[in-house]
Amino acid sequence: MKRLNRQEFLKLSGMSAGALALGGCGALSSGDGRPRPGVPAATPTGRLREYTLEAAPMEVSLGGRTARTWGYEGGLPGPELRVTEGDTLRVRLKNRLPEATTIHWHGLELVNDIDGVPDVTQAPVAGGEDFTYEFEVPHAGSYMYHSHVGLQLDRGLYGPLIVEPKKEDLSYDREYTLALDDWLDGVDGAPEDALERLKSSGGGGMGGGMMGGMGNGGGGMGGGMGGGMGAARVPYPIYLINGRTGDDPATLKVRRNQRIRLRLLNPASDTVFRVAVAGHGLTVTHADGLPVEHVDVDTLRIAPGERYDVLVETDNPGVWQIAAVPENKDGLARAVLRYEESGESSPPARDARPQELNGRLLSYEDLRNAAGESFPEDGPFGGPERTHELTLSGGMGEYVWTIDGQAYPDAEPLPIRRGERVRFKLNNRSMMAHPMHLHGHFFQLQNGTGNGPFKDTVLVDSHMGGVTFDFVADNPGDWFFHCHLAYHLETGMARVVSYEG
Ligand code: C2O
Ligand code: CU
Repeated sequence: MKRLNRQEFLKLSGMSAGALALGGCGALSSGDGRPRPGVPAATPTGRLREYTLEAAPMEVSLGGRTARTWGYEGGLPGPELRVTEGDTLRVRLKNRLPEATTIHWHGLELVNDIDGVPDVTQAPVAGGEDFTYEFEVPHAGSYMYHSHVGLQLDRGLYGPLIVEPKKEDLSYDREYTLALDDWLDGVDGAPEDALERLKSSGGGGMGGGMMGGMGNGGGGMGGGMGGGMGAARVPYPIYLINGRTGDDPATLKVRRNQRIRLRLLNPASDTVFRVAVAGHGLTVTHADGLPVEHVDVDTLRIAPGERYDVLVETDNPGVWQIAAVPENKDGLARAVLRYEESGESSPPARDARPQELNGRLLSYEDLRNAAGESFPEDGPFGGPERTHELTLSGGMGEYVWTIDGQAYPDAEPLPIRRGERVRFKLNNRSMMAHPMHLHGHFFQLQNGTGNGPFKDTVLVDSHMGGVTFDFVADNPGDWFFHCHLAYHLETGMARVVSYEG
């Protein structure tokens, strides 16, 4: 089947991206007041990159125990797909699961019909069937692919999708991809059992209170603080980096005086992590795949669905802990940074917490877009043509999560129109933070700097947290907008953003 990429789609529909951005407002001269997220469309390379992803039951070994789960190509995470912008990516999904599945290309601005949302952009692919996704890869960055059916994401059905630019302007010596995850499947029942427990606990009660007696594998300190009332969290016995427990961590080999790029991905289903590298600072270079002005920090929070790229200068020989500490939960995921100069020195203690975790923490206000034009402050040409003000709530009493009181699929679509600048204002009236993810579009965070980062996922903090972002409606279709916590998505926290007219 021939798939159109976005440029072809725009050409066919007789619109250039610029024309779309201008929409019905012909009075504006080109480029005025209609900033672009600065992801210049990749020109085709003519290179076809083919992969097969077989989704099937498998066993994973997690620090000595064996767990039955589902994954891609027998690995956890699934294989890293690495392509160059402008390549054509053709992925044959072979569904060998006992139920239907799909693949979503998280963060990529693709044509709607390959977006992988069941019953919104495609019929789910039944067990035993195959389906081919094919598209031109539109822009560089660190992304992920994952199942978008039910709670399958909380099994092993995810993997990194790395898109290299045609010309890299960041200079670094080596790079590593680190995927952070919270894990219960096959260790403490299946995700569906965890959802049943959440429902029967009514969603209320002390946050994390259900963790008693769950046999926490991490044994860390401090992570369980600040749960708050009314915020039932999923108890996870294990936290992983690249599918490995703290007993058997991934080792990142480096040499002195190198610059290392880390691509941090959070495909976890219910966990915000705080990440730090002992003995080293982090220079943040990209948020959700797109470049930001470099900012030096000691630690950062990464919510489910988010990605950060950071640089680490190896100027402090040794063997160091790379820690990802789950917020409001006990435990710790880790990898090890090992200088080759340090020989066989033993790794840090399993649960060692780098002091950098308490150092300078990245905030959204620190991030400045370096990807292109910014949305102007509101003004004659600057104001959004449409604003959706949305309240996030739920989790009290019944375990149901809502956007403006509606629980998907019993929820109205959010209308937008081609060419509009759209603003979403999100207000969190619940006791949990929600990482809200928009498909098919990058949005610009209004973070008070006038030049916020373009992202596709943003954490809206609990207890009256609020977030405002803007985007250009330039990618027609029906697009999912939802909380990236799998159990919130599954119990209603989603809407379809729908182009009208
Ligand atoms: Cu990463 Cu709608 O998902
Ligand atoms: Cu949520």
